Amino acid sequence: MKRSFRSALGGIAFLAAVVLTGCLTAQADDSTLPHLVWKDGRHALIVDGAPFLILGAQSHNSSAWPATLPKVWSAIETAQVNTLEVPVYWEQLEPEQGKFDYSIVDQLLTGAREHKVRLVLLWFGTWKNGSSHYLPMWLKRQPELCPRIIGKDGRRVDSPSPHAPALLEADSRAFRALMRHLKEADPPHTVIMVQVENEPGSWNTVRDYSPAAQKLFTAPVPAELLKALGKDGRAGGDWTAVFGRDADEFFQAWSVARFIGQVAAAGKAEYPLPLYCNAALRDPLTQPAASSYESGGPTDNVLDIWKAAAPAVDVLAPDIYMDDSAHYLKVLELYSRPDNALFVPETIGSPTGTRYCYAALARGAIGWSPFGIDSPPRSATAAGTLPAGDAAVNPLAINCRVLGPMMREVAQWSFEGRLHAAVEEKDEHQQTLALGRWQADITFGPPTWGYGRNPKGNAEPVGRVLVAQLGENEFLVTGYLCRVDFKIADAASGAQRDFLRVEEGGYEGGVFRPVRIWNGDETDWGLNFGSAPQVLRVQLGTY
Ligand code: DGJ
Repeated sequence: MKRSFRSALGGIAFLAAVVLTGCLTAQADDSTLPHLVWKDGRHALIVDGAPFLILGAQSHNSSAWPATLPKVWSAIETAQVNTLEVPVYWEQLEPEQGKFDYSIVDQLLTGAREHKVRLVLLWFGTWKNGSSHYLPMWLKRQPELCPRIIGKDGRRVDSPSPHAPALLEADSRAFRALMRHLKEADPPHTVIMVQVENEPGSWNTVRDYSPAAQKLFTAPVPAELLKALGKDGRAGGDWTAVFGRDADEFFQAWSVARFIGQVAAAGKAEYPLPLYCNAALRDPLTQPAASSYESGGPTDNVLDIWKAAAPAVDVLAPDIYMDDSAHYLKVLELYSRPDNALFVPETIGSPTGTRYCYAALARGAIGWSPFGIDSPPRSATAAGTLPAGDAAVNPLAINCRVLGPMMREVAQWSFEGRLHAAVEEKDEHQQTLALGRWQADITFGPPTWGYGRNPKGNAEPVGRVLVAQLGENEFLVTGYLCRVDFKIADAASGAQRDFLRVEEGGYEGGVFRPVRIWNGDETDWGLNFGSAPQVLRVQLGTY
């Protein structure tokens, strides 16, 4: 019992931590409301009173309709996720000005409860991938209320201007109506977070050059932003004077974030669920020109501006579609900050992409969620990565089968900074993890047995390892197509690793229940993981 973080002692410690640390989201008077907490620079999403890990999947854009939802529900069952991310379309929610149709939202709530999953709703309002295509028809028919951006050359760009008071008011009203409805229709808190807009910003112009925007651009930078950036001394300067060559992009970021922050605040005043905004990323390893990516969204270089402009938005979240580890891991690093919980709301669900879930968890992620769940399931064997016999294995289910049954424990370990991960690199099959007194040596590839016969890597880099440090000499280990062994970090000590006990099992009701002890061939050459969802509790000693 003393090892269980869901034990009574752990529970008391956790509650104390929550009370003593900050709540990023106002809880109003409903303490059962999902909310974010932080401690020592790490974050947790609290659902039903304890840390919750979003093992999610997002539907395709046009799938939240009665005709297409059955396919979505069936796909989430196959993938075994615990959360569905699904859009709410402004054009559907408010087909006539001021008249709201909640029928699809209600169907989503009912369907999610039937399938025992939570929901993250995506508000497709003013922005969807930099455009405004989800505006209701009654609004599209009044373009003077929802002007497009004017580019530098004076031509209209297919992106909404953030300098549009009537549009801001209409979007805020609609989002407020959605949140008010959720408050009434969702006492069990099926919806645990809401995304405000979708990949906002503008393609094809770094900012708006309309007369309204020009007036603001040549006015002094708001004192509030200068203060937040520690540039108080620049008071009175306009955007170019203060930010030089970044002025156009920073102005666009402030303008878009300011707009969305007000929409978010309007919704939160009705019902204070955690809110987030997702970002179409820029290359995190270079300093590309703002004209080459979506400008004004929460890209890594303007997170501070977004935090200052939109305090009602709790989380700025990266949509990661990069399938090389250098880029992927850098994005995880940039978005996990003391003032920002790491959440990956869209990413790649391929056999290689799903390995990054473990890397995100080791960075403290509150959730990880591939896009396009209702595509035909991709077979892992199509990439030639799984042993015969596993053809039906869904790449996402590989993670969910392991993590799902212990997601509460994993979320708690993540919050406590106890998780470590390694993901296979394309041409590098060995890695190490520093674990205090110990070092884990990881070799990727299908299991092999016998001295000198180390795994030689997988045909595609699909290998992954997740280690939770439960005590100085005790670890919870799971892996996929790899071998894990341990040694004493201080090689000069002469001490050798001894497996005191290796138990395969799983968590039930917060307690680890072993089903067998591994020994002999199963431990003599290290801990070999194939494609089965195996979880080991490992106690180490020395001789
Ligand atoms: C990112 C967007 O946020 C999603 O809604 C969707 O359009 C995907 N791109 C498509 O790949």
